[in-house]
Amino acid sequence: MDFSITHLADEDVPRIVELCRTALDLEEDAAEAAQIVARLREQPGTGFVATVDGLVAGVVLGSIAHRDKSVGHIDLVAVRPDARRQGIGRALIGRAEAALAGLGATEVLLAGNPPYYAWPGIDVRYTPAVCAAMALGYEQDRTAWNMTADLSYAESPALRPTEPAEQRLAAKGITVRRATADDANALVEFARSTFGASWAGEVAHSIDREGAGLHLAVRGSVSGGEILGFAAFGSSRPSWFGPMGTAPTAQGLGIGGVLLRRCLREQHELGITRSQIGWVGPVPFYARNAGAWIERVFFLYRRQL
Ligand SMILES: CC(C)(COP(=O)(O)OP(=O)(O)OC[C@H]1O[C@@H](n2cnc3c(N)ncnc32)[C@H](O)[C@@H]1OP(=O)(O)O)[C@@H](O)C(=O)NCCC(=O)NCCS
Repeated sequence: MDFSITHLADEDVPRIVELCRTALDLEEDAAEAAQIVARLREQPGTGFVATVDGLVAGVVLGSIAHRDKSVGHIDLVAVRPDARRQGIGRALIGRAEAALAGLGATEVLLAGNPPYYAWPGIDVRYTPAVCAAMALGYEQDRTAWNMTADLSYAESPALRPTEPAEQRLAAKGITVRRATADDANALVEFARSTFGASWAGEVAHSIDREGAGLHLAVRGSVSGGEILGFAAFGSSRPSWFGPMGTAPTAQGLGIGGVLLRRCLREQHELGITRSQIGWVGPVPFYARNAGAWIERVFFLYRRQL
């Protein structure tokens, strides 16, 4: 099969989204193809399209790590099912690696580049991609997983009311509410100083945006009080939850469970039936507070260039 590879141009994006709807074999990814491509394209990076007989047959998107310019990421690679095993995936990844090297990368990860990522790594059920990573000399270095919370029925533990716990917090002078644009600076600063730089971008991207949201807990004055914790959803993908964090000094008061379920309730009201708690963290916390279970598992890969 003859194919050609060209740089991705803005006008290719609708065709790339169409391609991803058929080439992402997992239904939950295919359904969010438009949001995945849009989110990944918000960061500077590189992209290539493979064409067969004038039709788009494959795509790769890559970027440089936001914290380390010597690290490149392959953020998405997908080849149309009828064009697989012809070397298109290999050629696309090769072009992306060369472009990332040109931008200064000395190694490339097949792993998410937060805050602009669609997956932490390769979902193990994308077995051809796991095989391709191995064939192309990538080494698996970490495992990551998501948890699923069922939002499809009113009695789900993920939708348990938060009011009793909120009253207990109120008795301690702690208020819980949804964030507005006015909270953005303080929240980004809280995320940065308490948990490091990695979550600041996702926090900023969750506030006051359609399909996303953030809830926070404050002590003292409702508007200017001390932030004790936050939980966000919809930043990386509409159906995904996270990140969330409670200040170490405020842990154990029940703040996290309340913030988590307030976000899950909002996702439920948006029509989402299964929330993906992304790139977890504390499994027992989510199991206890939302009846969530480990479902998606991802292998993360790296290769020295
Ligand atoms: C992963 C994917 C992009 C590979 O595209 P492709 O064009 O078929 O890849 P290539 O033909 O270049 O294959 C390169 C090597 O990978 C390995 N490989 C790819 N698919 C394989 C499969 N189904 N079984 C075993 N090995 C496989 C082989 O070693 C292959 O080399 P070979 O054919 O000479 O043996 C494609 O399967 C795909 O789009 N999958 C769905 C989307 C996806 O999983 N994306 C990754 C998550 S972001």
